[in-house]
Amino acid sequence: MTKITPQPGILEIAPYVGGASHVDGVSDVVKLSSNENPFGPSEATVEAFRRAGFELHRYPSTDHGALRAAIGAVHGLDPERIVCGVGSDEILHLLCQAYAGPGDEVIHTEHGFAIYRIGALAAGATPVEVKENNRVTDVDAILKACTRRTKLVFIANPNNPTGTMIGAEDVRRLADGIPETALLVLDGAYAEYVEGFDGGAALAEGRDNVVMTRTFSKIYGLGGLRVGWGYAPAHVIDVLNRIRGPFNLSTPALAAAEAAVKDQAWVEKCRADNTRLRAWLAEVLAGHGVPSDPSETNFILARFTDAGEAAACNEYLKSQGLIVRPVGSYNLPEYLRITVGDEASCRRVAHAIGQFKGGAA
Ligand SMILES: Cc1ncc(COP(=O)(O)O)c(C=O)c1O
Repeated sequence: MTKITPQPGILEIAPYVGGASHVDGVSDVVKLSSNENPFGPSEATVEAFRRAGFELHRYPSTDHGALRAAIGAVHGLDPERIVCGVGSDEILHLLCQAYAGPGDEVIHTEHGFAIYRIGALAAGATPVEVKENNRVTDVDAILKACTRRTKLVFIANPNNPTGTMIGAEDVRRLADGIPETALLVLDGAYAEYVEGFDGGAALAEGRDNVVMTRTFSKIYGLGGLRVGWGYAPAHVIDVLNRIRGPFNLSTPALAAAEAAVKDQAWVEKCRADNTRLRAWLAEVLAGHGVPSDPSETNFILARFTDAGEAAACNEYLKSQGLIVRPVGSYNLPEYLRITVGDEASCRRVAHAIGQFKGGAA
C-alpha cells in the first residue's frame, strides 16, 4: 500500500466526464452533448488561427494585451481588469486555488456546473450545495447557507444544465448579502445567448466582491481552442496573475480569440439562429409530451416521465446517431440535455424523440 497520498479532498473528486462524441457502430452521428456552436467559429477567426501558424516558434504573449484590449473595446470594459485563461474553467480553478482552502466553504447551486465542486475540492475547501427553486437559482437559500467560512459563491447565469437564469435585481441582492469576506462569481458562459445581457459586467464594474467569467467555447465556437476570461476587481486580477501560468494561452488561441471577439456580426447571427431553433425545438418536443423550462442558453433540458424513460430515450437517440447529454450526475435523472444544433440536427432529434414517444405510447 503506497504511503504517497494526494492532498485531502482530491480523492473525493469524481473526474469530470465531457459530452460523448461517438457511438459504437454508428458513423453518421450528430453531437448535441457539449453545447457547442453547430456553426463553428467565424471565417475571420479561422483565418487568424491559420496565420498564427507562422509564429509557432515564438513564445506567446504573457500579458494577453491584444486580446484583453479587444475584449475591453467590444464590451466597454477596462482591459486592466480582465484576465484570460485556458477556458473559463481555468479562471474558476484559479479562483478556488487563490481564495479557498481547508476549512473554507465554496457555495454552488444544486444543479450547478460540475467544475465548482471539483475546483473547491482540489483546493482542499468544502463545497456546499444549495437547493434551487424548481431548477432556478434561489438567492435566499444561498444567503441562508452563507457562513463566516464562505469564501466563494458560484452561480452560472444562465445556468448549465438547467438553462434558466435569474434577474439583475436578484444578482445584486446576492452580491449585497454575501459575507464581506466572500467573492461572488457570476459564470457567464452562456451570456451571449441572451439578447442585451451583459453577463453581470456592470455589477462587477462597480464592486470589489464580484467576478464575472466568460468563455470563447460556446457562441464563439472555439471549444477546441480553450480560451476564457474573467472581469474582476483590480485586487483579484492581481492575485490571479500571480498564480496563473505565464504562458497559459498559446499564440493561435490568443490570435483566434482576438479575431473572434472583434467579429460581433457572427455572434449576432449565431444568437439569432439559436433563439429561433431553440423555440422551434422546445415547442415540437413539448408537442411530443417532452416539456422543458424556458431556456436562455443554447440547449434545452428535456423532461421525461421518469429516469427510466429518459435513459431509454437516450439509448434510442444513440441508435439513431444522435448524442445528447444524460444529466443524472447533476441529479436530474429524468432529463436529457439537448444542445440546439443546426436546423437539420434539430429536425433529426425532434423527429427521433417523436418516434420514441409515439412508440412508447
Ligand atoms: C456554466 C459553464 N461554465 C463554464 C464552462 C467552461 O467552459 P470553458 O472552460 O470551455 O470556457 C462551461 C462549459 O460547459 C459551462 O457550462
